[in-house]
Amino acid sequence: MDPSVSGLTQRLAEAGQSHLLQFWGELSPEQQANLTHDLQGMDFKEINGFFKNAMEVSSSSKHEKMDARMEPVPREVLGSVSRDRGSLKEWEQAGLHHISQSKVAALLLAGGQGTRLGVSYPKGMYDVGLPSHKTLFQIQAERILKLQQLAEQQHKIKCCIPWYIMTSGRTMESTKDFFSRHKYFGLEQSNIVFFQQGMLPAMDYNGKIILESKGKLSMAPDGNGGLYRALGNQGIMEDMERRGIQFIHVYCVDNILVKVADPTFVGFCVQKGADCGAKVVEKTNPTEAVGVVCKVDGHYQVVEYSEITLATAEKRSSDGRLMFNAGNVANHFFSFPFLRDVVQKYEPKLQHHVAQKKIPFVDSQGHLIKPDKPNGIKMEKFVFDIFQFAKTFAVYEVLREDEFSPLKNADSQDGKDTPSTAKHALISLHHRWVLNAGGHFIDENGRRVPAIPSLKDGTDLPIKCEVCPLVSYGGEGLEELVKGREFHPTLMIDEHGVHELVKNGV
Ligand code: UTP
Repeated sequence: MDPSVSGLTQRLAEAGQSHLLQFWGELSPEQQANLTHDLQGMDFKEINGFFKNAMEVSSSSKHEKMDARMEPVPREVLGSVSRDRGSLKEWEQAGLHHISQSKVAALLLAGGQGTRLGVSYPKGMYDVGLPSHKTLFQIQAERILKLQQLAEQQHKIKCCIPWYIMTSGRTMESTKDFFSRHKYFGLEQSNIVFFQQGMLPAMDYNGKIILESKGKLSMAPDGNGGLYRALGNQGIMEDMERRGIQFIHVYCVDNILVKVADPTFVGFCVQKGADCGAKVVEKTNPTEAVGVVCKVDGHYQVVEYSEITLATAEKRSSDGRLMFNAGNVANHFFSFPFLRDVVQKYEPKLQHHVAQKKIPFVDSQGHLIKPDKPNGIKMEKFVFDIFQFAKTFAVYEVLREDEFSPLKNADSQDGKDTPSTAKHALISLHHRWVLNAGGHFIDENGRRVPAIPSLKDGTDLPIKCEVCPLVSYGGEGLEELVKGREFHPTLMIDEHGVHELVKNGV
């Protein structure tokens, strides 16, 4: 249909976005229909407003460092796996109890584009090369299954942990299809709820929406903080309410070690009466580019490394640890009433952050240009932007080597956060589980292998060992399988038993 008839031409003119139709006459009828469909679904006034606010916030915050306004997390809201060992069991039991009552949900943020990893499919479908070749989605699904079993066994009651999975326009269909092909990895299909976050157009520095081809806008998901808007407009809060969910664990798809719906974290946050909680790992290197959880003007916030001076980043407490050391890993707890308030009241108050990017575009002659320096922005909200609204906040510090190894980048020599580092992290953890449970590893000559793993050649692992999450969620229950026994790597412990893969020639 002619865009002037539908009023689209006028809406675009009013919003200063008429250039989006500049190639209209060159498009096929199908391309015209697609472009019209995309444009009709957009609120240009709102998008222009987002752009204006985001640019204002970004230019004012550029000059101002946070240092003087920051305070570290006070000890009374902090729980620590290493410093509060005596309380861990109690927190875990409390969390398992809430899980057994089906009050706990897991919420997966899987709407990202995974540009750095550079695969064409959703990151959760990635196989980092474990002996089992399980994908990130499968590992997480099996952890949920196991946790349900643990809660059921302990409390003699059937329960479920509903799994809410946020995708984006780009990842929704392939994600759903993947789960369906794998029969939901043994979970009940009705307890997995997929929903879709919003997308926003990329804009140039003058606020003009960028065309990635003559008939297509350049679109990207609106950041993992797009969660809150999506929860509201996709009926997810109502679904949670119907199911009686009281506590929600939110986490990212890319952390291979993630303890989905971690009962200890949930139990700790509930015991603290927290409406919002953040799991953190200790930041040990002052210049590491990780955001830290702290208080700014009395409210909790994540402050990025770029927002503070080196002097503040280097400050140490009397115990020798960095003063601002609560490294944010995008792993959060929310009470249902808090999340509902965020969705209903606070979300519109959040401003988008500006990410400057190199965005391919068509120029006025219709040529596709791939810029070599940033030429525009993407607008994103972050999942932690809502910390400021929490009345009771809790911070839970865990060990990085046990709980955090994100998959961000493709493999490269000495790369950080790659498939190799993720695989290594998981195998090292499972290796430690087996040692802690009283098992031993021996080499081809029958000699015991030293307990501390090391990378032999940067890619391969000396002691390959993988424990299926269906056997153990967090290292529990392994004694009866391994205590006092010696194994040749590769050791595989799954629901069928204990196998030595190399011996069997696998
Ligand atoms: P990242 O910020 O690391 O982005 O996401 P990414 O998409 O995985 O990778 P790059 O930056 O394109 O290389 C952290 C977490 O937030 C989710 C991701 O799926 C990941 O779990 N996320 C990110 C969303 O759910 N939506 C978004 O819009 C962005």
